[in-house]
Amino acid sequence: MDQLTAIAQIAQEQAVGDRSGHDFAHIQRVVANARRLLAAYPTVDRTLVLATAYLHDYYDEKLVADSAQAKAALEQKLAVTAGLPKDDINQITFIIDHMSFAKNIDTRQPLPLAGQIVQDADRLDALGAVGIFRAIRYGATHGSPDYDPAIPPRQQLTAANYRQPSTIINHFYEKLFTLAGTMNTPAARQMAEERTAFMKQFVAEYMAEI
Ligand code: ADP
Ligand code: NI
Repeated sequence: MDQLTAIAQIAQEQAVGDRSGHDFAHIQRVVANARRLLAAYPTVDRTLVLATAYLHDYYDEKLVADSAQAKAALEQKLAVTAGLPKDDINQITFIIDHMSFAKNIDTRQPLPLAGQIVQDADRLDALGAVGIFRAIRYGATHGSPDYDPAIPPRQQLTAANYRQPSTIINHFYEKLFTLAGTMNTPAARQMAEERTAFMKQFVAEYMAEI
């Protein structure tokens, strides 16, 4: 079995059963996005990028009960099952530790190019038709109303208020419509702008209907 297949399996075992928008289908779309973005960067380490794309949610605090324990388990599996050298494992976990949206709200974390590509690939999956599905899924899982004119969108998203309840429509204004402006790579920015235009059309139609 090649390394990436082993890594895909490790990621799949962990993602199975997720209903919060981080299931294995999300992982596979992020990997596909990363492959697409890699086309512009022939000298970047493909295996590092794709492995990190597969693993980026593996020990996320919101998805696992004990993030440190899950991280240690992942490092063990990468060394033993996938046969990755320690240095590669450290590069992967460095990117995962610094790439999430929540960790980049207050101060933007510097990422190596490989990490910038994975971050863009992950952020693209919050946009477009897929992004609409995921926002609704997340909001429904967390009991958010679809829309409530009495709850205005927050002017400023911070790490402290990001996980506080809001409405699903507010999430578009507070986060999703700002994502295109945070893309690292030109190709991702282009795709993000197209997907954002589609989401704006969706929200405009929603407002018109209600
Ligand atoms: P990440 O994108 O870093 O994996 P999140 O948990 O913030 O982490 O996002 C997962 C998905 O859920 C994204 O598509 C995101 O836009 C959506 N989401 C996050 N917070 C909310 C919210 N309050 N309401 C609706 N959707 C949300
Ligand atoms: Ni993700």
